[in-house]
Amino acid sequence: MPLTSFNFSSLAALLLAAVPLAASAQGASGPIKVGLMLPYSGTYAALGNAIENGFKLYVQEQGGKLAGREIQYFKVDDESEPPKATDNVNKLIKRDNVDVLVGTVHSGVALAMAKAAKDNNTLLVIPNAGADAITGPMCGANIVRSSFSNWQPGYAMGVVAAQKGVKRAMTITWNYAAGAESTKGFTEGLEKGGGKVVKDMNLPFPNVEFQALLTEIAAQKPDAVYAFFAGGGAVKFVKDYAAAGLNKTIPLYGPGFLTDGTLEAQGAAAQNMLTTLHYADNLDTPKNNAFRKAYAIAYKSQPDVYAVQGYDAAQILANGLKAVGGDLTKRDQLAAAMRKTPVDSPRGKFTLSAAGNPVQDIYLREVKGNNNEFRSIAVKALADPARGCKL
Ligand code: BEZ
Repeated sequence: MPLTSFNFSSLAALLLAAVPLAASAQGASGPIKVGLMLPYSGTYAALGNAIENGFKLYVQEQGGKLAGREIQYFKVDDESEPPKATDNVNKLIKRDNVDVLVGTVHSGVALAMAKAAKDNNTLLVIPNAGADAITGPMCGANIVRSSFSNWQPGYAMGVVAAQKGVKRAMTITWNYAAGAESTKGFTEGLEKGGGKVVKDMNLPFPNVEFQALLTEIAAQKPDAVYAFFAGGGAVKFVKDYAAAGLNKTIPLYGPGFLTDGTLEAQGAAAQNMLTTLHYADNLDTPKNNAFRKAYAIAYKSQPDVYAVQGYDAAQILANGLKAVGGDLTKRDQLAAAMRKTPVDSPRGKFTLSAAGNPVQDIYLREVKGNNNEFRSIAVKALADPARGCKL
């Protein structure tokens, strides 16, 4: 049957009605599309899950809405694989058309995400990866971090090690941005206090064949070892270090990733270890106590630093959305408010630097049972130097 003029005008009316609807889903009403790009497999899988849990806990506490808008999640498992990162992030940006990206854990993957976020002017909230360059030369008005720069906990541990009289240290890590930058931060802090790193050692990510390197440590007999590992690799390293008997004579230090979310699996091998981080399990504040209670009820497990960073990533997004009444068309205002609003975190209140990185206290913690217990503030209100950031 031929189309009549009535059919054409009905079609046109329908199309016209559809355009503002589609536009408003991206703008001032409808669900906000959040793209979670995290590791759900591999050595960092537990970290990715904890971040997602923390993020969703905060959203649930707001009744499932931020600034009055529902949140719709899109998920990609990045597998902590940098070569797949650009394709993976483009699934969220171009296929799913997300309003904001949240990710990821691995610095190498996050560097590709930051580039894509800049190229497409997509909002990016980083809930872990500490790659110094993201809040350094690559910094952007649309990018913020709820976590740390790799330099921060490393530098603080170097300061503490020097205070403890360490003169000769060795470092050991995976050979990628996070390991290199964390050990560099440690070296800077240690040298400032008069100590020296006599040897840096590494192995490819995510290898866990540590024996030859442990033999080298035993031969060199440094005053202390600084190690950056996290997730499954951290569990294996701390156990191997103890099994080799090295923990009896050479203190093992690290950023808190070495013992966060890992203690049940590390057991006796981790007891009494000292690490530095922006969170400690037993911070006795109303905010931390409420967070830990709510997390335990929701997920039947204890939160760790990664859960805190996920929770705060959602808070930072909420701060931006509240400032514009949930209207995503006011992008620049939203991004500026994410940066400018102080964050009331389970770790303690913190602000974001001009480069978009937390300015925060770094704590010295000691492992007791399954907890990383607060001992002291290693460095107060530590800001990343943001070398090379021009904003
Ligand atoms: C990173 O790749 O930046 C990273 C991974 C795990 C823990 C901390 C940092």
